[in-house]
Amino acid sequence: MLKVALIGFGGVAQAAHLPAYRNLQEQGKARLVAACDIDPQRFTKAMEINIGGAQDGSSMDFHRYSDWEEMLACEEVDMVDVCLPTFLHAQTAVELLKRGYHVLSEKPMALDYEQSMAMVEAANQAKGQLMIGQCLRFASSYTFLKDAIEAGTFGKPLSAVFRRMSEPPIWGWDNWFMDYERSRGCLLDMHIHDIDMIRFLFGEPDAVSCMTQDVYSRDDIAHSRLMYPDLSVLAIGDWSQEGTGFTADYRVAFEKATVVLDGEGVTVYPRGGEAYKPELSEKSFYEAEIEFFMDLVKSGAANVINPPNSAATTVKLIDTLRESARSGGSVRPFKKA
Ligand SMILES: NC(=O)c1ccc[n+]([C@@H]2O[C@H](COP(=O)([O-])OP(=O)(O)OC[C@H]3O[C@@H](n4cnc5c(N)ncnc54)[C@H](O)[C@@H]3O)[C@@H](O)[C@H]2O)c1
Repeated sequence: MLKVALIGFGGVAQAAHLPAYRNLQEQGKARLVAACDIDPQRFTKAMEINIGGAQDGSSMDFHRYSDWEEMLACEEVDMVDVCLPTFLHAQTAVELLKRGYHVLSEKPMALDYEQSMAMVEAANQAKGQLMIGQCLRFASSYTFLKDAIEAGTFGKPLSAVFRRMSEPPIWGWDNWFMDYERSRGCLLDMHIHDIDMIRFLFGEPDAVSCMTQDVYSRDDIAHSRLMYPDLSVLAIGDWSQEGTGFTADYRVAFEKATVVLDGEGVTVYPRGGEAYKPELSEKSFYEAEIEFFMDLVKSGAANVINPPNSAATTVKLIDTLRESARSGGSVRPFKKA
């Protein structure tokens, strides 16, 4: 059973990682031995995060620390799960890889491509593996599209729209989400889920353009176009919608059907046929992601679904979208890393 330590016990740790470890622990696959947070209240109070479901951890038995150096000096662990604010991802992951741990680090990989590549290089030198929590790559509502594209089930994709909208993330430690220098705004933080998924589904775009708006800090709203030879893709990320909770949806039109994700789940609308709902796994995608990484760690197999260099390329694409936004939405060629 893999022994895990978690750094950063805030919103995503409480709402997504903790329930996953509880299930994996019950199945005898993992044990969360320790967690660390500089704010001790995080272990006594559930957070109010836009995706809901946060828990304070009192129902699980693990050691609590306020300093991760001390935690790792005291605990024997195989894997470290980094759920820190984005500006701490690169330096923390690089240090942990140097010390020989397997590292799962939340998305976005880092603040920019340069920092992301430092992580890739550290992983290349390390005995431990690195994976970034691009969790949609493990979400059945999105892998349904991936499988359909690879099998050609509905013919070629013709157009796609992805949206991710939320109230502003004001639960963060020291309000770091609302500080552009530490989060790089919605464009990097939330929009990256759809930008990564678009690359995962359709490959690298030839060119991109993006318009952003500043509401609280910078780039709180992002409208991006990704251009492929016979396919147009639009993605919208917006965390300015106060009081609305969180929604994520898509519409992908293929030659023979349109696939829609909305509040009712995934529905397929075949051309000239009856709409139907495909049967999809109901497992939490955070749990599927963590389980996938643990299997990689145990087997030593290559990561073909979500390797670090692909996560870095997604950050490079976000950097390119930002360049476009800074020049009023000009079309920018995108060159793969
Ligand atoms: N995959 C997803 O769907 C998803 C969802 C939400 C957030 N995230 C990502 O997860 C990361 C964390 O987001 P969050 O919502 O949990 O933020 P958060 O601010 O709620 O949590 C971060 C935690 O780290 C702690 N912390 C800060 N510095 C520390 C240090 N030096 N040592 C130990 N603890 C420290 C803070 O006290 C806080 O509890 C971000 O990169 C965010 O983009 C991913």
